[in-house]
Amino acid sequence: MKILVTGGAGFIGANFVHQTVEERPDAEVTVLDKLTYAGNRASLAGSGDRVTLVQGDIADADTVDPLVAESDIVVHFAAESHNDNSLNDPSPFVRTNLVGTFTLLEAVRRHGVRYHHISTDEVYGDLDLDDPQRFTELTQYNPSSPYSSTKAGSDLLVRAWVRSFNVPATISNCSNNYGPYQHIEKFIPRQITNVIDGIRPKLYGAGQNVRDWIHVRDHNRAVWTIIERGRIGETYLIGADGEQNNKEVVELILELMGREASEYDLVADRPGHDLRYAIDSTRLREELGWRPEFRDFRSGLADTIAWYEENESWWRPQKAAVEAAYAAQGQ
Ligand code: NAD
Ligand code: TYD
Repeated sequence: MKILVTGGAGFIGANFVHQTVEERPDAEVTVLDKLTYAGNRASLAGSGDRVTLVQGDIADADTVDPLVAESDIVVHFAAESHNDNSLNDPSPFVRTNLVGTFTLLEAVRRHGVRYHHISTDEVYGDLDLDDPQRFTELTQYNPSSPYSSTKAGSDLLVRAWVRSFNVPATISNCSNNYGPYQHIEKFIPRQITNVIDGIRPKLYGAGQNVRDWIHVRDHNRAVWTIIERGRIGETYLIGADGEQNNKEVVELILELMGREASEYDLVADRPGHDLRYAIDSTRLREELGWRPEFRDFRSGLADTIAWYEENESWWRPQKAAVEAAYAAQGQ
């Protein structure tokens, strides 16, 4: 099976490539990745000779077309993925998330190739803290940021290409991931590497915002489940019942790293900061039989902390610049 993985040098994509090579002896993987600030060749080290990395832009049709033509399936992870960056400069989000997805869809349409689209629960906007409802496949789209709105737009392009052109596609919308190879601009690895460096973790606002955490391996196992058993044209929500507020997460990181749970700072809030995300993954569980393996957030987080402690050479080159950029905006 020849698999084209876009964004395979990023966080979730690199984990997907490693898992695919480990678990699927018949898989030949081509990674198409622009190697932006978020992509890292080193994340694919050790993945073996069944993985080929092509450096290129998903919005460039001349690059995309021949790679799609020789693939059995395209799994599309590539994106501009960080909300804070999208507030500072939305333009790469429009180009990569919208034009990039359009370019891939036109290529899979031309060549009749199976396509799986990776998306986020942030397309649904946010929930109140005490709302008993969680997001389902029927929740109305209501994105808040340039990041989530361009992801929502990309999902809608996929739906239209299924309906209008019979493109054989599925979509998954997952909650917040954690695990190895996540860029240190993101919440959990930023705080872990801060504590390693003796910097106090930074909580936006009052730290009350809730995210629904899932281990990246569980996300990727769900993606494979949908590729193999999902119904064409359908959307599946992926979540592992992992709701925690940001303050609880920071306190747990501090405790697991041997610090006082109160050793954090409250900093400037994110404009338009979504309050809460929560996923109801009943369809994925009941229709396709998926279950998360990482049920214990504490031990998943402890493993993730150990990974950042053991792989300092992977993240160290970016730490000073990431913290300087946050400091410049009071965060
Ligand atoms: P990431 O930022 O770590 O990685 C993105 C990768 O895409 C990088 O390797 C980057 O170089 C590459 N890329 C960016 N623009 C490109 C372009 N124009 N052409 C080719 N490659 C390009 O992101 P991630 O956290 O791994 O997210 C992967 C996907 O999963 C995204 O589609 C994101 O919306 C989705 N998602 C992420 C989360 C999460 O918690 N991180 C949750 C749900 C869904
Ligand atoms: P993030 O990892 O950026 O993911 P997303 O915006 O996609 O949910 O942020 C997760 C949560 O953590 C979000 O509520 C913002 C908050 N946050 C902080 O409190 N401090 C930080 O330093 C960062 C980066 C995020």
